[in-house]
Order: sequence, then structure tokens, then C-alpha cells
Amino acid sequence: MKNILTLIVVALGAILPATAAEQLPLIQNVNAYESTSLNGKWNYIVDVQEEGYYDYRMNPTRWGFFQNAKPQKPEDLIEYDFDKAPTMQIPGDWNTQDDRLFFYEGTVWFKKSFSLPPAPSIRGGDKYLLYFGAVNYDCHVYVNTRHVGHHIGGFTAFNYDISDLLKDGENTVIVKVDNKRHAEDVPTQIFDWWNYGGITRDVKLVKVTPVYLEDYNLQLKKADAKAKQREITFSAKLNKKEAGHKVTVFIPELKLEQQLTTDAEGTVSGTLKVSAKKLSLWCPQNPKLYQVKISLDTSVISDEIGFRTVETRDKQILLNGQPIFLKGISIHNEKPNGGGRANSAEDARTLLSWAKELGCNFVRLAHYPHHEEMVREAEKMGILVWSEIPLYWTIAWKNPKTYENAQNQLTDMIARDHNRANIIIWSIANETPHSAERDDFLGRLATYARTLDDTRLISMAMEVTGASNYVNRLNDNMNKYVDVVSFNQYIGWYRDVNDAPKMRWEVPYNKPVIVSEFGGGAKYGYHGEKNQRWTEEFQENLYRENCAMLDKIEGLAGTTPWILKDFRSPRRVLNGIQDYYNRKGLFSDKGEKKKAFYVLKEWYEGK
Ligand code: GCU
Repeated sequence: MKNILTLIVVALGAILPATAAEQLPLIQNVNAYESTSLNGKWNYIVDVQEEGYYDYRMNPTRWGFFQNAKPQKPEDLIEYDFDKAPTMQIPGDWNTQDDRLFFYEGTVWFKKSFSLPPAPSIRGGDKYLLYFGAVNYDCHVYVNTRHVGHHIGGFTAFNYDISDLLKDGENTVIVKVDNKRHAEDVPTQIFDWWNYGGITRDVKLVKVTPVYLEDYNLQLKKADAKAKQREITFSAKLNKKEAGHKVTVFIPELKLEQQLTTDAEGTVSGTLKVSAKKLSLWCPQNPKLYQVKISLDTSVISDEIGFRTVETRDKQILLNGQPIFLKGISIHNEKPNGGGRANSAEDARTLLSWAKELGCNFVRLAHYPHHEEMVREAEKMGILVWSEIPLYWTIAWKNPKTYENAQNQLTDMIARDHNRANIIIWSIANETPHSAERDDFLGRLATYARTLDDTRLISMAMEVTGASNYVNRLNDNMNKYVDVVSFNQYIGWYRDVNDAPKMRWEVPYNKPVIVSEFGGGAKYGYHGEKNQRWTEEFQENLYRENCAMLDKIEGLAGTTPWILKDFRSPRRVLNGIQDYYNRKGLFSDKGEKKKAFYVLKEWYEGK
């Protein structure tokens, strides 16, 4: 009898309530809207065996932690209590906030309560979107115990319409976050960075009108240098397929204004004409941003947008029609001092100011989309950006779910940042092993990327495999899908530095070349002979030899050495030297400059 009862309870428990909301396309320029920040202290419960999600038969249970249950009667058995659980700061990773979780990969539950002002008038008709800047890696979101959605991918934003789930007074958001690695994931099981887990970027409740601007796009059309007039294309899309809504785009400083009316698809598009003399083009020396106001019926939002064109001509990259050399550096999205995910404008400004000190006009934001402030601060500072999705090393190319995941991350990366003038390159992969499946996967993805944005360049970090007689020949089928051929090389680190002067590089494609990684490790303050690994002198010499070698590459249009700052990696275990840091930074993990910093700075001054 007991077993039948248990079976009924288990069976009943396994019937999960349906998801009560849908993931919506990402709202454009979320910071332009009135919102309630849900950042701050969140309670958390570490749930190694996912006791809060599965029953002892590994069926998802309806009595999970998302119920936020409290004993109602003295004899009630509730074996968790968020309000008695510790708290941590959100946005933030759990690895650097709780020493027990430094290496932890698994599930952690988070709970945040917030009150909405009663007065339905405040909410009369308005919609409320629950917005996450990023959650690593796999999360389930619940509002007031109702399942709102399931999101995978640790570095892109997502939002849900939770208007119907909100109630006056106290509301509760509960998020189950799992950062365990799997072969079919993106990134896959192995990667050379710390798998920081948690709600790593801003969380906010965004108030929008029932019909709102889901997306809009402003781009300067290419024109020849002598054009007297320039054209700025404008398009917008509502969250609803509704005709007859008035959309006005207004650029006060240029006295440009256009009113448009939505069609049956809820979209508008138009072209603004401006004399070329009047328009100040965005570029590193002049990172000019124009305030743009976009109104929809009675509501108005504003944005800061720069206008520039980027294209290639043979082996040159042209910014506003002029050849440019990209003096870059690679950066991980990690706080400037010590470890932990970067997630603020301040973090961004510090990291980018270090890049500026190096003489950079370009950064490779590796290997995944960084937080929005990183891109926007770079835009204000006149720093061009390479933005990337984490298709890194041995991806499960044959798995359709993996492709779908990659395509979603690409879509969300472009959806958030397609109005940023400083982003010039979308990169879709890093050091991926050659195979027909890989070529098919990446070929489709590159083609898809162009349907989302045909105004920017597409690239990926390829590998030059094996050199005979010091001749390195890039041979990658993906060359036909990219605008810029980029490759990583480690002469001096994974290959002998003394070969550098003899090396020849053959890139048999009439396209600009970016050396997207080169470098070597050094422990700050460790000194010795230049052939002594891990010394600053070794790294300094490696940079000197590499810079001289790269100068000989025909069509070199830029470099992004690996890397700005020492960063956390579980693959770097050499005690006393690495201690779970990849030491290839030009800055230590505490922001101290190593000798090689000055070699690169000097090289860039000559560019
Ligand atoms: C690779 C890889 C990086 C890694 C670097 C290294 O090229 O793209 O993610 O950190 O090499 O070995 O340090």
C-alpha cells in the first residue's frame, strides 16, 4: 500500500506546471527604459544533487525549491529555506564570493524578493519584462513559483514578459543555475578560462508600454569618399505585428527627423539624408556619438549612436573609406584586479584604459560576448571591437542542438550590439579542428550572420597547422566565408622563439589578415635570462621577435596579442607560477605591467 501511495505522490509530483511565460526577442537598448534593478543581495542554496529539482527517481518534481515553500503546520517537512540561506552579490559569480565554490561546477539556486507598488494604475496596461544580462550556463527562471523559462548560454542577454505573473506587494524571482560542462554545449567541455557560475550580469524589471520598440537599427550607408550627401538607414520593429503606429526618429544635433507609420508587420524603414560636411564620422581619433531619439506613439527612448562604415578592399580594412591598422589586444571578461566576472562600466573603463596605455585602437573581446558596458565604454573611448561567440576548440559539430544553441548565441550577440559603431567584426569560432562537419556548421553560421547584419565583417580565429622549412601556410576552407582571415600562432611559446626570424607566412587569400593571438607566459616580478621560461625577459624577447616577424606578413591589417591581463584558468596548474592563472598577460592579475608591455607599446607607436 505504502509503495502505491509513494508511487502516486511521485507521479503527481512529476507533473510539472506548464511554463507560464515565453522568452521574447531581446529588447533593444534596455537601459533606455524605466526599470527596477534586481541587483543586490540574493539568497542562494548550493544544490549539488539537484534535490531542489528532481525527486529521488530523477523526475523533475513540482515540490521543487522554486516553490519557496514554508512550513504551514508544525509537523510540515520543508528541507530548505531561502530566507535562512546565505546571500551573495548579484551580478556576480559564485566562485569568487564563496570559497567553498571556487572550483564548483553544478547547481545553485538563487532567490530575490521585490515589492511592486500596489496601485494598479501604475501597472495599468504596462508590460513588465524580466531581463537578465547573462546567466552562466543553464538556468530555469521562476516568478512567484511559476516557471517562466529555460535559457542556455552563459554570455548573452534574455528577457521574459512576466506581466501576468506579478502581484501587488511582495514578488519572488527564483533562478536555478547550473554551470556543469557537456560535450554538446557551447562552449564545449574544455576551454582555457574559468567557468564562472551564476547570475553574472544585471537583472532588472523593465517597464514597457503594451506595444513597444522591440528593435531598431541605424546604419550609415557606404558611399564613395567624394559623396556630398550621406544616407543613414533607419528601421524599427514593434513587439506586435500592428499597422498604423507612428514611429519618429530624431537626431537633434543634425536636425534630422523622419516620421514613419508601421505596416502590417509592425515595422518601419526609412532613409535620412545629411550633407557629408555636417556628419562627423565615428573613428578612434573622434569617437563621435549622436543622441538619437526614437518615439513610438507617445513614448520616447533615446540612444547614443555613432556613424561609420567598415569594409575591406583586397588586403586592407577600410574604416570610413580609409585603410586602418588594428592595434589590438585580446581581453577576457574578468575583473581588472584578481579574478571574477567583470560586469560594470568601471571594470570596463579600467581594462580599456590599460589597452589605451598600450596604444590600442582595437580589442578582441574573447571568446564570448562581454558585458554591454564593455562595448559601450569602448565606443566612447574610440576603441574598435571584435565580438565573438564561444565556438571554441572541439565543438559537437554533428549535433543539431549544438548548432541551434550556437545560432541563438550569435543572434543574441548581434541583437544586443548591432547599433554600436565600434563593433566592426563578428567572430564565429576559435581554433576549431578541420572537418567536413565543422565546415558545414560554420559555413551555415557565417551565412546566417550576414542575414542578421551585412554592414560588418565576419571572421574567425583559424590555426596555422605545422610549418615545413619555416613556411607557415594558412589553409582553411572557411576562408571563403570570412571577410578577414585571422589566425592564432604561438612562435616562441609552443614553438621555438629562435625560429621567428626564419619564419615565412603564406596566406593565399586576397583578404586582410589579423593575427588574432600570439604571446607567451611570464610571472610578474620573476626575472632571469631571456631563454628562462616564465621570466619577464623571456616574454619580452618573445614579443620583440614576434613583432619583427609579423611585420613581414603581407596583408597584415591588425593583431590582438594574447592577452591584456593574466586570467583565471583551471588548465593552468603549475604551482608557484601559474596557480590557476594563464600568465600570458602583459599585465599581471593585479594590474602590474610586465616588460613585454613596453615592447608592444613601442611597436604600436610605429604603426
Ligand atoms: C589558445 C586559445 C586561448 C588560450 C591560449 C593559450 O590559442 O585560443 O583561449 O588561452 O591559446 O594557450 O594561452
